Parts: sequence; C-alpha cells; structure tokens
Amino acid sequence: MLTPAYDALVNLFEHVVGAEQVKRWAFRAADSRWSLELDDLRALLSPATRLLVVNFPHNPTGYLPSPEWQRELAELAEEHGLRLFCDEMYFGLVHAGTPPIPSMADISERAVVLSGLSKTHGLPGLRCGWLVMADEADRHEVMNWKFYTSICPPVATEYLARAALRAADLLTQRNLARIARNMQTAEAFFARWPGLFEWRRPMAGSTALVGFDVPSVSRLSRQLAAEEGLLIQSAAMLGSDDRHMRIGLGRDGFDTALDRFERWLERSQLAG
Ligand SMILES: Cc1ncc(COP(=O)(O)O)c(C=O)c1O
Repeated sequence: MLTPAYDALVNLFEHVVGAEQVKRWAFRAADSRWSLELDDLRALLSPATRLLVVNFPHNPTGYLPSPEWQRELAELAEEHGLRLFCDEMYFGLVHAGTPPIPSMADISERAVVLSGLSKTHGLPGLRCGWLVMADEADRHEVMNWKFYTSICPPVATEYLARAALRAADLLTQRNLARIARNMQTAEAFFARWPGLFEWRRPMAGSTALVGFDVPSVSRLSRQLAAEEGLLIQSAAMLGSDDRHMRIGLGRDGFDTALDRFERWLERSQLAG
C-alpha cells in the first residue's frame, strides 16, 4: 500500500487483513518532485504478498508514473502472482508537460481498477463510481455482493451520470483549466515563501503535498480553521508526517483562500 495515501484506502485494507499485514511503500522526496521506486517495492515483497494497492494519479502527491514504469509495475505483479488494486479516481487529470498513461485495466488482467465521476469530472455529489476487472468470476462475485447491500445505484444518479459521460471531455477540460489556474497561483505563492514551504509540483490530479516548516501542521490547521475559516490538511492524516500539508487545487475560490492564508502568515510569527 502506498504511503502517504487517501486515508479510506488504507483503512479499508487494514480493516480487511489487519493493520500488521499491510506494508507501506513510501514516496520519496526528491529535490523538485516526488518519486516512487520499484526497488523499494521489491524489498517489501514476500511470498506471502497477495495484493498491491496503488493510486495514480496519486492523492496527495500528484505523482504519475511514466508509461514504461507503469508497464514494469504490471510485469512485477505478473512475476510475483499479485493482484493489483488500482485507484484511478483522478484518471485523465494530467498536467502540461507530463505524458498521460493508460488505465491499468488496459495493461494487466490482474488489475481491479476503481474510478468514478467525483474527481476528473468534478461531480462528487452524484456518488457514482465503478470497478473494472477482467476476471468474469470475480466480476460476478462483486456484483452479487452489491445485490446484498444496495442492490443498484439510484436511477437519478445513473441518468445524470450518463449525461456527464456524454460531456466527459468538456468536464475534464474545464477541471484541468481550473487546476492549471490554481497551480499558477500556488507556484507564485510558494516562490514568495521559499524558506517556509517546500513545493513539489504535482504531475497530475488535483492535490499537492507541500513541506511546511512548522513544528506541527495539525496544530496550525486547527488554529487557522478557528481564526480564519481556512482549511489545510496535515499530511499526518494521510500516513505522512506532521510537517507536510495537503492542498487541493480543484476548486474555484482557491486564490481568495490563499490570499487570506498569506495575510495571516504575514501577521504571524512565521513571517521573516
Ligand atoms: C484517491 C481517492 N480515491 C477515492 C476517493 C473517493 O471518492 P468519492 O468521493 O467518489 O467517494 C477519493 C476522494 O478523495 C480519493 O482521493
């Protein structure tokens, strides 16, 4: 399991197999970007390893592997007989300068791919997502399990989801343009505060993981919420340390919030 990672993803697998069974494949902080090393993964594998859980584009680092690296990962899964659970909720949100990659579902029959309309299409309120898996028996088992729980998705959601998928390109482009605008604002901001923040430009997705040179981001985030109505998230909540924060780049109003954060920083002890 990747670390840091979207918390529900970690919690779910820990719940299923027990926390002590889950090994963490950690991102590395290179100078200007985040990296993920296949050799680190090889060192974690054992004959008991059954499932590899990944998420690309990655929340929170914005990491996206190269097509070659992705293929190597699929080969490694094949070699070790592993199933691959691939969270592709941010599929297609790829920023300028980064080569896009195909879905793991198109590369490996071992993959179970999760995606949906919440991120790439910006429609989290529809609560619509899906799994893609090649194995027919597995597919039937999952569908059967679904029948035992909520039977089927809401019809209104299905109707709206189909309309959204017909306009998928438009929605994705609109989202990408918003993220690009916010990224420019963020880069200018972090360039003004080089001693306080460590910015690594996300390659994809709508989040960034930023080093923040304070003793505890959690403490500061509580203070910011109370004093300014601003929300930053400590990376400690995502399995990383309390000296990184996650920011979201996917919303309108980002510039206003960042401006407010900057005014607060200027008044705080952290300035200068
Ligand atoms: C990596 C990842 N997977 C899954 C989800 C869940 O998405 P949804 O809002 O559709 O439940 C999120 C939401 O933040 C996410 O970041």
